Amino acid sequence: MIPISNFSIRTFCGGYDKNFCYLITCSHTGYQVLIDAPIDQKIIRPFFTDAPLAILITHSHHDHIHHIDQYQNLYPDLIILGHQDSPLSEKYNFKPLENKSTIKIGNLHIQSLYTPGHYFDSICFKLDPVLFTGDTLFVGRTGRVLSRKSSLKNLYKSVYEVILKLPPHTRIFPGHNYGRENTITLEENIKISPLLQARSFNDFKLKMEFYESSRTKS
Ligand SMILES: [Fe+2]
Repeated sequence: MIPISNFSIRTFCGGYDKNFCYLITCSHTGYQVLIDAPIDQKIIRPFFTDAPLAILITHSHHDHIHHIDQYQNLYPDLIILGHQDSPLSEKYNFKPLENKSTIKIGNLHIQSLYTPGHYFDSICFKLDPVLFTGDTLFVGRTGRVLSRKSSLKNLYKSVYEVILKLPPHTRIFPGHNYGRENTITLEENIKISPLLQARSFNDFKLKMEFYESSRTKS
């Protein structure tokens, strides 16, 4: 758990593929929200102070939303917050988020930032000085663009024109434990990530092609 003056973040790792689930608690009010639902409620429930208010969805890939039903059944008032075009909107107690919506949790203000690319409905959540990046940005690299609704061009724009414009000390909390550590600042992540050192979109494309081909060989 990382203690910060007005909130805390408890990190859980599990699910399909070293997924991270984060429990954010407002230190003043005890109100809580989850980032994604990749992990069984039995593991996370002991850490709830009361019913959590919401689950903030970074994107609708299956591994990130697999356990939503469990949480929604246990906590019928729970709100699912995600992209306005999310397929989840038809099934759950869902509230759509526009780009730069503010979500108030107790004394905390969390901002949604649309970051399409890895998937069309990808959102990052900013709670200064932290950014929950889902599968858009990991420790050591960006996300990949393997789905039908992925876009390399959009991923480039989201990473370079949205995320890397944030203050260098911003600390990312990604959607999977794929890096050498769980969390890193943007500044440090640029130093260790060739995919964050592109000079242009074409350069990023080449770097991504190189990354994908080196994965195939290994
Ligand atoms: Fe994903």
